[in-house]
This record gives sequence, structure tokens and C-alpha cells, in this order.
Amino acid sequence: MRTVLITGATTGIGAALARTIPHSEDTVFLQYHANRARCEEIADELRSRGAQAHLIAADFAADPDGATRAIATEIGAHGDYLNVLINNAGGILQRRTVENAEYEIVAETINLNLVAPMMLATHMSPLLAAAVKRFGRADVINITSIAARSGSPTSTPYGAAKAGLENFTRGFAKEVGPGIRVNSVSPGVIDTPFHHGTTPADQMERWLAATPVGHHGKPEDIVAAVAFILANDFMSGAVVPVNGGFQMI
Ligand SMILES: NC(=O)c1ccc[n+]([C@@H]2O[C@H](COP(=O)([O-])OP(=O)(O)OC[C@H]3O[C@@H](n4cnc5c(N)ncnc54)[C@H](OP(=O)(O)O)[C@@H]3O)[C@@H](O)[C@H]2O)c1
Repeated sequence: MRTVLITGATTGIGAALARTIPHSEDTVFLQYHANRARCEEIADELRSRGAQAHLIAADFAADPDGATRAIATEIGAHGDYLNVLINNAGGILQRRTVENAEYEIVAETINLNLVAPMMLATHMSPLLAAAVKRFGRADVINITSIAARSGSPTSTPYGAAKAGLENFTRGFAKEVGPGIRVNSVSPGVIDTPFHHGTTPADQMERWLAATPVGHHGKPEDIVAAVAFILANDFMSGAVVPVNGGFQMI
């Protein structure tokens, strides 16, 4: 029986991960920020399939260290190991050009997309190491972004944070191997609430025109990449791009 933690498990990619990655006998922790009702629905689905599902509220933008430390304490109170940590929560918060950026937005964006995943991995390290002792392996999977390489005009702190998260993936993988595997999945444009209200429709059209596969991605495309990493015994420090060919690396 594994213990799995998925952050941002309410909508979009996180909801799809939460519905698919846990096995029926797993203990699953689902983090949410504002959307408790959606998270509760997903937890109920998991419970109906036999899993134990727990909700954890956290605001990673405001207090990434306190919020992630509290999560570690709560999971530690339920058990003494963590097999899979998926750092999925993230977002742009507000689109601003650099010349109009305010410190609070920059700091909160970097907290949400970089500091919180790093501190969660830090605070979870003892439980991940305990899973290695018991099962031979534990996994940290960071959901980054195409913006890590392309740059992100009007959301530069977001792109910079995701680039930092990819670099953290490599450094942490080297520190905690061989038992703990650390990998990233880098989504391109995925059709989720992420874009509602922050990405203009004409921008979505321009991105679509530059995407060789001819459509935007679905959350399930990211789930497939995460499942691939978890099934593979010879990957660590990798970034798996899932972007329809929009960015070829
Ligand atoms: N969709 C894309 O095109 C795309 C592209 C590249 C990368 N990504 C990355 O993929 C991941 C998932 O994105 P998505 O498209 O599924 O986004 P989404 O639908 O907007 O979901 C974002 C998730 O993050 C949580 N969250 C937001 N602010 C938070 C905060 N301050 N503290 C803690 N949690 C917070 C939300 O929780 P509540 O709902 O409870 O508020 C929600 O569960 C993100 O890391 C995103 O950067 C997405």
C-alpha cells in the first residue's frame, strides 16, 4: 500500500492525476487552496474505489515554508513513509509586464511555483527515504512548463520559477539517488482552467497554429507522462516535454 501526495488536486491536471495515479489500496493526500468542494468530490471518488483519501488545505503563495511544513507534519501523523510526491499546484496569479511588476506578485508567483515544491520535497525527505527503505524506491515528480525554456512574456516570474524547478529537479535527483527518483513533466498548452481569465483567446489561437499535432493538450496527456515515469526504473533528473511539438528539444 503506497502513500501518495498530489498538490493542486482540484481541477485541470491535478484532478486528472488524482483520479488516475492512485491505486485502490493507496493512502492519498490531496492538497487544495480555494476549491475544497471539488477536492472533496475527487476524494469521494477515490474512497469509492477503496483508497483512503485525505484533504489538506494550503496556500503556497503566501507562506510556502509554513504551509509545506504543516503538510509534512499532517502526513507524518498518518504514517511513516511517502512513496510519491507530485508537485502539481502552480499558476500565473496575474499577468504583468516586467515594467509593471509589483514585488508581491513576483514573490507570490515564485513561492507558488518554485519555493513551495522545493520546501515540500525538503520537508518530505525523511518520509520519502522511509519509503525507499520499505519499498526500494520513492518518486518526486514536478510539473513544470514549456515556459521554463521559452520565457514567458507578461508572466516572467512564472517562467523563471518553472525554469528553477527544472534545475531543482536535476540537483535534487543527484542528492537523493539512488532510491529517490526526481523527474519533471513539462506541459505545453493544456486545456484547463489555468488559461481561463489569464490567456486571451487570440493567444490560444496563435499557440494552436504553432502546434504540429493540431490541437491543445488534455490533462490526460500529462497523466500518461507521469505514469510513464512511475513505471520506468531508469529515469531520474529528466524533464519530459508534452507539448504537441510546440517546443522541440
Ligand atoms: N494548463 C496548462 O496549459 C499548463 C501549461 C504548463 C504548465 N502547467 C502547470 O501544470 C500545473 C497544473 O496546472 P493546471 O492547468 O491544472 O492549473 P489549474 O487548473 O489552474 O489548477 C491549479 C491548481 O493549483 C492550486 N493552487 C492555485 N493557487 C494556489 C496557492 N496559492 N496555493 C496552493 N495551491 C494553489 C489550485 O487549487 P484550488 O483550485 O483549490 O485553488 C489548483 O488545484 C501547474 O503547475 C501549471 O503551472 C499548466
